[in-house]
Amino acid sequence: MKRFVVVGHLASTEPDFSLNNLPGAGRIDELCRCVAASLCLSHGMRRDTECLLVLLGGPKAPKTIRFSGESVRSLSPDERNIAGLIKKALALPCGIVFRESSPGVSVRKGGLAEVLAECGCAVLDEGGDDVRGVETMPETFILSDHQDFSEEERGMVQDLPAYSLGPSVLHADMAITVLHNELDRRESGWI
Ligand SMILES: C[S@@+](CC[C@H](N)C(=O)[O-])C[C@H]1O[C@@H](n2cnc3c(N)ncnc32)[C@H](O)[C@@H]1O
Repeated sequence: MKRFVVVGHLASTEPDFSLNNLPGAGRIDELCRCVAASLCLSHGMRRDTECLLVLLGGPKAPKTIRFSGESVRSLSPDERNIAGLIKKALALPCGIVFRESSPGVSVRKGGLAEVLAECGCAVLDEGGDDVRGVETMPETFILSDHQDFSEEERGMVQDLPAYSLGPSVLHADMAITVLHNELDRRESGWI
């Protein structure tokens, strides 16, 4: 299992945003690209991968939406399609346990603290250690969206390993693609 957790610092926790203005909903556009980069292949889904979006915008925050490659249906890589699934998830009343809003898409109350309590994580950070030197990869990788991690979040992850993909600062979805490539190459015996 591979899992990408993306912290959306301003991302809407209400379903009333417009599909015509995803950047205006707290950069939901970037989170949609992260879902696509996590799960979509040219001709299929990465069934061994999950993408968790931690949404921190608005009074109902935090909420977490989980996209599971194993069971998701009708997911295409375009942002509007994925944003539609996010809207549906946000419209569902939820508690602290994940509740399914569409096949393979679930939502719960809670954010990064809950994820950290459940998973063996590393942080993806441009200032971290070169990922190519890491022998045993964790299951779960935490990324920030267009903003830096907050002070509070930095405190929460300070004891976790931090891995860098290279000297350039990438968009979060691009960082997921690069890491998938690294994992693909290892799993296929290329390196
Ligand atoms: C656009 S960056 C975040 C903003 C960035 N920290 C800044 O303000 O310059 C989005 C996220 O992608 C990941 N990321 C981007 N470039 C990376 C790199 N070279 N190595 C590892 N992770 C990277 C990190 O998780 C980062 O928080």
